[in-house]
Amino acid sequence: MGLYDDVAKILIPEDVLQARVRSLAEEINHLYRDDDFPLLVCILKGAFVFLADLTRHLNFRHEVDFMVISSYGSGTVSSGVVRILLDLERNIEGRHVLVVEDIIDTGRTMDYIIRNLRTRHPNSLRICTLLSKPSRREIDVPLDFVGFEIPDEFVVGYGLDFAEAYRNLPFIGVLKPEVVR
Ligand code: PRP
Repeated sequence: MGLYDDVAKILIPEDVLQARVRSLAEEINHLYRDDDFPLLVCILKGAFVFLADLTRHLNFRHEVDFMVISSYGSGTVSSGVVRILLDLERNIEGRHVLVVEDIIDTGRTMDYIIRNLRTRHPNSLRICTLLSKPSRREIDVPLDFVGFEIPDEFVVGYGLDFAEAYRNLPFIGVLKPEVVR
C-alpha cells in the first residue's frame, strides 16, 4: 500500500486549497505595509507547507521565524498538554506579529501561544490558520484569518500528519480507518 492508497477521501482538493491561500494572502496584503516589517511566526511542524505557499503571495516586506510546539503526541486527538520545543529566534517586543498555524482544534495550543507571546509585548498580534474545527473548540481563541472551517474528522496532508507521515500530500484528506487504527 502506497501513500496515496491510504487516503479514503479528499476533503479539500489542491486547486481549492491553492486558491484559498492566494485569497488569504490578498486579505493580509491589505493589512501590512513594508514599513511594518511584520514577523510571521510559523508554528511547526504542521504549518510549514502553508507558510511556504502563503509567504510567496505576500507583497510586503516581512520576516519569518519559527516555533516548534507539540500538543498531539503521535495520536489523533489532542493531549491538552502544550510544550514549546523550540522558541523564536527573534525578540518580538514592539513588532507586528502574525502567527501562522495549520489547524485550530480544541484551541488549547493557540490559547497557550497567544498568552505566551502577549507577555513579550508585540505591537500587534494576529492569528492566521488554514483550518479550524469549530465543533471541537474548548477554548475560544480570536482568529483573524481562517482558510476553511472543517467538520470533526482527522485530516492529513498539506503539512498535517498522522504519526509524522502524510505531511507531503498536496491536498487535505482523510485516511482509511484501517490506516489510523
Ligand atoms: C496540531 C496543530 C496545532 C494543534 C491544534 O499540532 O498544528 O498546533 O495540534 O490542536 P488544539 O487546537 O487542540 O490544541 P501537533 O501537536 O499535531 O504538532 P505538529 O504541528 O508538529 O504536527
